[in-house]
Amino acid sequence: VSDESTKPAGNVGRDHPSGDAGLLPDRIEMAAGLVARAGGLLAADVPAARYAVISDGNVAPLHGAAVAASLRDAGRVADLLEFPAGEASKNRDVWSSLADRLAALGAGRDTCVVAVGGGVTLDLAGFVAATWARGVDLVLVPTTLLGMVDAAWGGKTGLDLPAGKNLVGALHRPRAVLIDPSTLRTLPAAELRYGLAEAVKHAVVRDAAQLEWIGARASALLAGDEDALLELVRASSAIKRAVVAADPRERGERQILNHGHTVAHGLERVTEYALPHGAAVAVGLVAEAAIGEAAGVTARGTADRVAAALAALGLPTRPPAGVSIPALVAAMRLDKKARAGETRYALPARVGEAARDPAGRWTFALPEERVTAALAALWRMPGRSTVSAERTAV
Ligand SMILES: NC(=O)c1ccc[n+]([C@@H]2O[C@H](COP(=O)([O-])OP(=O)(O)OC[C@H]3O[C@@H](n4cnc5c(N)ncnc54)[C@H](O)[C@@H]3O)[C@@H](O)[C@H]2O)c1
Ligand SMILES: [Zn+2]
Repeated sequence: VSDESTKPAGNVGRDHPSGDAGLLPDRIEMAAGLVARAGGLLAADVPAARYAVISDGNVAPLHGAAVAASLRDAGRVADLLEFPAGEASKNRDVWSSLADRLAALGAGRDTCVVAVGGGVTLDLAGFVAATWARGVDLVLVPTTLLGMVDAAWGGKTGLDLPAGKNLVGALHRPRAVLIDPSTLRTLPAAELRYGLAEAVKHAVVRDAAQLEWIGARASALLAGDEDALLELVRASSAIKRAVVAADPRERGERQILNHGHTVAHGLERVTEYALPHGAAVAVGLVAEAAIGEAAGVTARGTADRVAAALAALGLPTRPPAGVSIPALVAAMRLDKKARAGETRYALPARVGEAARDPAGRWTFALPEERVTAALAALWRMPGRSTVSAERTAV
């Protein structure tokens, strides 16, 4: 694997004329073995009086400790702050206990927070960095594929409330994002697939050739081939960076990254979060393509193509048994994208291209009867593969 660094190209990064592109990092490094030498890199590029490495209980011994040790080897002060793994930790209590631990360490404004972990850690530690001393330096070291292709990019940090996911948050630009595909060796196979679902989403809204590439490399990706994974992370995260750079505040085009997510969030709600997010996204991508086809927005055959790509990656394309369409449609009404009581969908025009409505908006409000009919037709149809979330988990 080459050791090349990926410098933000063109209008992405430090020199962007708009301060908003400040949501993307100055420094992007992607290479196998990066975790072991992160310390020297950060000591030189993101100097700080102290580094607070934040990881969940699974990742701390596997990779967080290595980052902290590498910082100490580089002569820096580094502490490893651990919290219990899982979405349930992305809350105010854990944020508050991390802030208390920073205070106990005597951390000041010259502290750098280093988030080492999956999306939960990036969001939570990112929010700690956004709020500690009104905002300190942040470095992201994603260790899930979802983190590498998606959560590490775009500056969103935050917490869940009992009333809903990601309700409290801040936009906070990381100084650096370091991606080491070797960390994926320890990632459970099911988690790897959930990251692939988000990569398929990026391809569907922006790059048809990338969907073909994912299909051609499916077995290498699923087998954990580091070169294939690194190539996917480069290409897929580049899509997210380009979309974020064009519309950092999600006023328009960035909404296309919510494709599949209106249905996905509804499914997560009606299954009381038993269905993992990545599995819900996979089902949502097929469902929303079919909804788009029924609405005349999406080219015929798109849902079939997306379903075939997802099935080849061992991802589900239909909801788990027992999900009722009326309950799902009701749950979707609560989506964040709902405006003035209407549920909105970010839809593809075809594989590789997002659709805009006649007024130029990137999301579509559709009558619930039409959505219900489209989902009923899709999920009644035999022949499309059914893979339960349990069967995809290895
Ligand atoms: N900020 C954003 O733009 C953005 C985008 C997408 C998702 N998210 C957020 O990301 C979260 C989901 O992220 P996720 O799927 O990475 O979940 P996660 O962080 O909970 O990680 C999934 C599981 O894998 C474990 N793990 C992580 N890396 C590992 C490794 N290398 N080896 C072994 N185990 C490892 C974790 O401990 C956890 O049990 C959600 O909270 C979501 O809201 C944020
Ligand atoms: Zn998602």
